[in-house]
Amino acid sequence: MARSIVSVINGRPAEGPGAGVVDSPNPSRLTDVVAEVALADAGTFAAACAAAKRAQPLWADIPAPVRGRAIAAIGRIVEANKEALARLVTREIGKPYAEALGEVQEIIDTCDFFLGEGRRLYGQTVPSEMPDKQLFTFRVPVGAVAVVTAGNFPVAVPSWYVVPALVTGNTVVWKPAEYAAASAMALFELIQAAGLPEGVLNIVFADGAATFGGLEEALRAGTLDKIGFTGSTAVGARIGELAGRHLQSPCLELGGKNPMVVTPNADLHLAVEGALFSGFGTAGQRCTSLGTVIVHESVHDEFLAQFAAAVSAAAVGDPAGDVLYGPMLDLKFASRFEDYLGWIQPHHKILGSSAVGRISAASPRAGFVGDPEAGLFYHPTIADGVQPDDALFQQETFGPIVGVTTYTSFADAIALANAPGYGLSASIYTNDPREAFGFRRGVSAGMLSVNNSTSGAEAHLPFGGNGKSGNGSRQSGMWVLDQFTRWQAMNWDYSGRLQKAQMDVTEISADLDFRLTD
Ligand code: UN1
Repeated sequence: MARSIVSVINGRPAEGPGAGVVDSPNPSRLTDVVAEVALADAGTFAAACAAAKRAQPLWADIPAPVRGRAIAAIGRIVEANKEALARLVTREIGKPYAEALGEVQEIIDTCDFFLGEGRRLYGQTVPSEMPDKQLFTFRVPVGAVAVVTAGNFPVAVPSWYVVPALVTGNTVVWKPAEYAAASAMALFELIQAAGLPEGVLNIVFADGAATFGGLEEALRAGTLDKIGFTGSTAVGARIGELAGRHLQSPCLELGGKNPMVVTPNADLHLAVEGALFSGFGTAGQRCTSLGTVIVHESVHDEFLAQFAAAVSAAAVGDPAGDVLYGPMLDLKFASRFEDYLGWIQPHHKILGSSAVGRISAASPRAGFVGDPEAGLFYHPTIADGVQPDDALFQQETFGPIVGVTTYTSFADAIALANAPGYGLSASIYTNDPREAFGFRRGVSAGMLSVNNSTSGAEAHLPFGGNGKSGNGSRQSGMWVLDQFTRWQAMNWDYSGRLQKAQMDVTEISADLDFRLTD
């Protein structure tokens, strides 16, 4: 049965005319409507920011260790509801259940990491140049934060923003993807069960235009101090422009065209396993999904044969079952993926399935689990022979397609890995430490893997990218603290006189001409 979902601001359902209602269907069974989502308009979004801004000083006054206890409670409540939340994620966005459980675990890991920050949140005591004077630093919350997230990780990625923002004393307006509204609402309710005061966490459902308008209005009104955004490079650039006009720097986690280099000495079996998981897991709809395999010419044929065999044999279908991947997240993603399939050219050799495009009765896939006609299922596609000028090589293709190209010299492999201009995640399969560290030095990605796939970041390392993948901001672990706090410096002079820095400083005279004699 479809659940009616409406934004919650200050602990109360949002009122007002709104901006229509959209369905969030189950992408593996489109007749199953998971939620009917009432969309808010820009004014409602801005009102949520104003509510968060009003609630923020009181939340910041709650001692950080007590806020940390709230984070601990969120972790335990999510843990107790792990299976139920994972089932909802599988139903609403079609992520295979085993991966959905992993996604929920990532929230728990995030809470486990940050609950201790409530008792840490360290500042420094710093010596002064002068006597009877002490210097200090404090981390202060930025204020009210808007978090705008995608639906491919509908609960884990939002927790990367919300949990550290809350523990550091900020209040939050969370705008999840409409097509993942039920999963988002479930996480919102689990967080609320930890007893957060009204207005500390607000949830607003809105389309892109209303969200952008709401952000603009709130920035103008001075009721929004930080934007966190996970989504496309194009929208990230617009958000960056908007925030920049208000002298803010957003936390941006954008797309990727993540390369995997396979060297002549690589364990090919391992590389194939990694390419399968990161190329086709979540139907290629992770930010960290594999874009192009860059394989040394001497092992290309062997790698390709093994990779094509593995992809052809992989189970696709009902995400409640034991499959490599399920449907596309939503109709919007399915139709965009069909556009990307249009980038396939005659010089590409296509492997991996019996056909390209939507899986149907007329275009079946061997071993399909369930009824392909019921949902948005696509054949896995390997495009061998992609060239640096090809759109398939240059652009993110968010879906179950992986390009393969070859390299001759190691320097070429690095140049090819960097060529598309993204810089989120990159992987290399090698048993030569010089190649592993040479790749680390040369590649532009914010995250890299050696003998591991491009996906599978752990929750306590910095997550984020460079170039078209982001503005250098990092999420997760201690690094995200710099997104949600600002450093405040304090000096305290208790000498009873005005001691002038750089001027009233005692000097020790040194003999700089001193030399050792033989
Ligand atoms: C994303 O796709 O936005 O490393 C996040 C991974 C996951 C997170 C991906 N842990 O694939």
